[in-house]
Amino acid sequence: MSKKDKAAATARPMQTIVINNRKGGVGKTMLATHLTWFLAEEGARVLFVDLDAQGNGSRTLSGEGRGGLASDLFDPEATFNLAGAAGITVLTSDERLDIVELDDVQQMVKAFGAFASLFDYCVIDTPPTWGPLNFAALTVSDHLVAPVEMKDYSLDGVEQLLKTVHAAEQKGRGGRKINFLGLLASRFNSHSPREKENFAEIVRSMGPSIIFNGVIAQRDGYEDAVAGGVPVWTLKKRAAMAAGSEMRYVLTMIRDRVEGRQVKEILP
Ligand SMILES: Nc1ncnc2c1ncn2[C@@H]1O[C@H](COP(=O)(O)OP(=O)(O)OP(=O)(O)O)[C@@H](O)[C@H]1O
Ligand SMILES: [Mg+2]
Repeated sequence: MSKKDKAAATARPMQTIVINNRKGGVGKTMLATHLTWFLAEEGARVLFVDLDAQGNGSRTLSGEGRGGLASDLFDPEATFNLAGAAGITVLTSDERLDIVELDDVQQMVKAFGAFASLFDYCVIDTPPTWGPLNFAALTVSDHLVAPVEMKDYSLDGVEQLLKTVHAAEQKGRGGRKINFLGLLASRFNSHSPREKENFAEIVRSMGPSIIFNGVIAQRDGYEDAVAGGVPVWTLKKRAAMAAGSEMRYVLTMIRDRVEGRQVKEILP
């Protein structure tokens, strides 16, 4: 085998990670942008796709490289001219995302095929409402992380999420499994007995592997990072430093689970 053939044979296709939960304001965009920074800091080529017309992720990553409009993923006339450079490339949100329909999803699958050799990772941020954009994100993704708040947690909500994943596997992916990396306790208040009890209840009823053994606490540092468009671990304030280390801990676990590639059978 020539050197070039060997490199092609060992080249790993892009790993796509979707951050998804139907609930609004749980920290999806905060996590998606930090995962993107984290992977890029490790030297990877990372594509960030903002599928939320609110555009919060695109704003937070406004200092990073632009690769075009996310809505063009659904447009058969559109072309992307992406170099797949090291660092971050953002497909930004725009209002055309609001008119994406279920019939457009297969066009996104096609567009993604062309990115597979250009990037090491793709991180997709999703809107809080269920619809074609979330279905599209689950259809193209290899891995899923679901941030959840423990204050209003319900087992029904978790089961609903897993049913949605199952539906996307059946209807969008021809039965191909999504690697469910886990729930992630987000905006967590470690002083609240109720939140701690809710976390314990999830572990009791669904087993420890359903939820990451690490949390993202509610801390001002995250707001500062999002507002400043920089990762929380670059801020010098004391509160931000605690945030930085808990965030890196969680992101390392996410990266390791992505690289482990074990597909977990956690279905309703
Ligand atoms: N752990 C945290 N501590 C403090 N503030 C946070 C934390 N996580 C997120 N926030 C803030 O809470 C707000 C909502 O977070 P974020 O936008 O990430 O949620 P979301 O799930 O993406 O919301 P949406 O469903 O509207 O897209 C933002 O202002 C963000 O800065
Ligand atoms: Mg968001």
